[in-house]
Amino acid sequence: MDYLQIQGPSHLKGEVRISGAKNAALPLIAMTLLAKNDVTITNIPDVKDIKTLLKLLEHLGATFTHDTHKVKINNSHIIHTKATYEIVKTMRASILVLGPLLAREGHCEVSLPGGCAIGQRPIDLHLKALEMMGAKISIHGGYVYAEAKEGLKGAHIVFDKITVTGSANIIMAAALAHGKTTITNAAREPEVVQLCEVLRNSGINIEGIGTSELIIYGNDRKLLEIKPFEIIPDRIEAGTYLCAAAMTRDSLTLKNVRPDHLEAVTGKLEEMGFSFDINADTMTIHPTQSIKPVSIVTQEYPAFPTDMQAQFLALCTQAKGTSTIEERLFENRFMHVSELQRLGADIKLNGTVATITGPTNLNGADVMATDLRASSALVLAGIIANGTTSVHRIYHLDRGYEKLETKLKNIGASIERLSE
Ligand code: UD1
Repeated sequence: MDYLQIQGPSHLKGEVRISGAKNAALPLIAMTLLAKNDVTITNIPDVKDIKTLLKLLEHLGATFTHDTHKVKINNSHIIHTKATYEIVKTMRASILVLGPLLAREGHCEVSLPGGCAIGQRPIDLHLKALEMMGAKISIHGGYVYAEAKEGLKGAHIVFDKITVTGSANIIMAAALAHGKTTITNAAREPEVVQLCEVLRNSGINIEGIGTSELIIYGNDRKLLEIKPFEIIPDRIEAGTYLCAAAMTRDSLTLKNVRPDHLEAVTGKLEEMGFSFDINADTMTIHPTQSIKPVSIVTQEYPAFPTDMQAQFLALCTQAKGTSTIEERLFENRFMHVSELQRLGADIKLNGTVATITGPTNLNGADVMATDLRASSALVLAGIIANGTTSVHRIYHLDRGYEKLETKLKNIGASIERLSE
């Protein structure tokens, strides 16, 4: 198994090119199940989760060519309608095939994703919404069996909670349903917005894009002609590099970013004393003499993202005073706390609130990555810690960060990938 060995402290300088957003690419690749043509997608991030989803589509009958950042997918011959446990267990986002597969084929079987490191992460809201659209759903043997022989019907869906992949699943299902679907309390994440825009450009009439109430006029199971499109930049990868530069107190330029998608993150960094030069698709962060403490609550977009919580927790160890971070989305998303404590961080955990007192001199140690974003927080802490930090179980990182160690090395970090 690979691990990352980091020698700290390092300074960072130069430019980083931000990759395409994993969380936009996943639903958009699943969406190709609604297409009759070859779909070309560019700016695909070169990360493991993308390969996992392509493998799942291939199993369903897709053919594709994949050239690092570009994929061309053809789903004209679906031969299977079962997403097996073997694939779904490695990536929860496999659940994204449920909506499009059911809408197109009238039936499918998708393994239940089960629990994961950051919490239970149920899919009850996806299933309830599909039932409202006329699907018969049953669960046995660890699989969701979904059937809508005559196709799905438009309905008024009110999500009790805002769910990102749940919204994506129902938007895709609604595109091929019979009649109008209204989704109230839909997710407004940029990744969901891009899914809606691509569907609209493929002839599906969608009102309310970017708002929490979407109206989708289904085309009654006519497969779509989807034009080539480019994945939006990854706002979480961008935010992670901003935190890295904030922690090493350096100026760093990000290329290929959407600053408007990062406002909650840059807003908090400004509160902490950092400043920015922002252009259309580049931004530079500038350091501050003394980092101010901050209070953060994770919430749905456009509020502060849970996927940036771990990185800010690491950053807060360098702020002068006491910061608090409340995690509102996932009940078990603080596993990086005990690992950061191994590096010397002063963090107290009380239920869903972490209280961080700083600034602390971190010292290198062996630490274990527990989930994707937690892993990146440990790498950031390792860059400023004195001595050697080894981050183990980095397969989590490989799921979602393209060439993290190469990009960090290019801007000055001392980081190596080694084998245990
Ligand atoms: C997506 C992102 C993930 C991010 C999360 C929250 C992808 C591939 N993943 O995950 O990176 O951390 O949004 O921004 O885009 N819930 C239910 N029932 C459901 C569905 C969700 O109770 O049927 C709850 C979840 O347990 C959680 C909350 O709703 O507490 C939000 O989850 P959701 O938005 O669905 O997260 P994902 O789409 O899985």
